Amino acid sequence: MRADFVLENIGELVTPIGPAPLCGPAASELRVVPKALVASLNGRIVYAGTRAGADIELMPGARRLDARGKAVLPGFVDCHTHLPFAGDRSYEFLLRMQGKTYQEIAAAGGGINSTVKATREASEWDLQALAESRVDRALLHGTTAMEAKSGYGLDLENELKQLRVCRKIAATHVMTIIPTCMCAHDFPPEYRLQREKYVEVICEEILPEVRRQGLADFFDVFVEEGVYTRAQATLLCTRAKDLGFQLKIHADELSDTGGAGLAAELGAISAEHLLYASKAGIREMAAAHVVAVLLPGVPFFLMMDRHAPARAMIEAGVAVALATDLNPGSSYTESMPAIMQLACFRMKLKVEEALVAATLNAARAIRRDQDIGSIEIGKQMDAVVLNSASYVDLIYHFGVDPVASVIKGGRVVVQDGWMVS
Ligand code: NIG
Ligand code: FE
Repeated sequence: MRADFVLENIGELVTPIGPAPLCGPAASELRVVPKALVASLNGRIVYAGTRAGADIELMPGARRLDARGKAVLPGFVDCHTHLPFAGDRSYEFLLRMQGKTYQEIAAAGGGINSTVKATREASEWDLQALAESRVDRALLHGTTAMEAKSGYGLDLENELKQLRVCRKIAATHVMTIIPTCMCAHDFPPEYRLQREKYVEVICEEILPEVRRQGLADFFDVFVEEGVYTRAQATLLCTRAKDLGFQLKIHADELSDTGGAGLAAELGAISAEHLLYASKAGIREMAAAHVVAVLLPGVPFFLMMDRHAPARAMIEAGVAVALATDLNPGSSYTESMPAIMQLACFRMKLKVEEALVAATLNAARAIRRDQDIGSIEIGKQMDAVVLNSASYVDLIYHFGVDPVASVIKGGRVVVQDGWMVS
């Protein structure tokens, strides 16, 4: 077959195989092909298999990359980030080092609302530059698709500003960006004493306008004690669904508020965080095919002993995905390898489960599993070449950057640790 890009001399090609999501016993199933080759044409994979079985006709001007015997994986899919934010919360991190909790810091004027202030004050241009630098860093760590939530604007003007920034980056950067409107991340200071009024603003102004401008396909709400109640979330999600949004829910992050069950009841595509998800909630998620997006960077960064019950979820047949939750308050990282390491070391995921969760199941959580998340014929040619010959080193050799090169849409965008312009 004809190809305009070839990734050759692969030591082992490692990928989940769809259809997604992979759950139950399939959650750890990977296809591993030694001595492999992957070829693409116009950014789409046309061959992925043994070198010996390949019959490739290279087009004039075709490019090739020598993997030098290393392992090759699908590009990582970071399916939960709060990408467009301004400001710096390192002082909160220092307070936490002194023993203050996330909730205490938020009550004292820090937390989400301090980032809302900085994000509102930032110009669209500055916000874009900040977000772009994070996208570059994610790419260097092997991420080839990112979800990006608004939610630090919390009014029409600034939510639109955040989502426009996402759209501009999607149009100009090689990274695939999937925007989510999270105008229900918290209550803005001006509506602190009139919460129902802000719920109305979301339903009547923000969501219809975001939809009219086609700025996001997903809606997300933070269901938590002191933030959105189940009743408010139900109202918001019903309205969002009517407008054509698909639903995601920040659920059971800091306490069990029944968020997992609510996600199932409302037909959400995913419930995210889930540190405090109950057994009943897990059962309901499995029955309703809600993907669990787990974010082990959060308890690590907040220095909590707890972690999401990932094993119980996998045993119950819930599809598990992993993501960074990149944000300035509860998980400041762009590194999916670091998240996979935490998932294995803290939540006891198997290496293979972590890989499935960070690729194909993550793609499922943003409804892009037909297009990305695995190295299969017809999908986008998004791949990561590791620095090592075995995929196990991705977890085993922790705390270093395991990524040598990154291919996006059949183009080499990172080579030997450097961005290729
Ligand atoms: O996903 N849960 C709510 N939102 C973020 C934290 C945001 C912040 O602290 O700025 C999260 O953990
Ligand atoms: Fe989050």
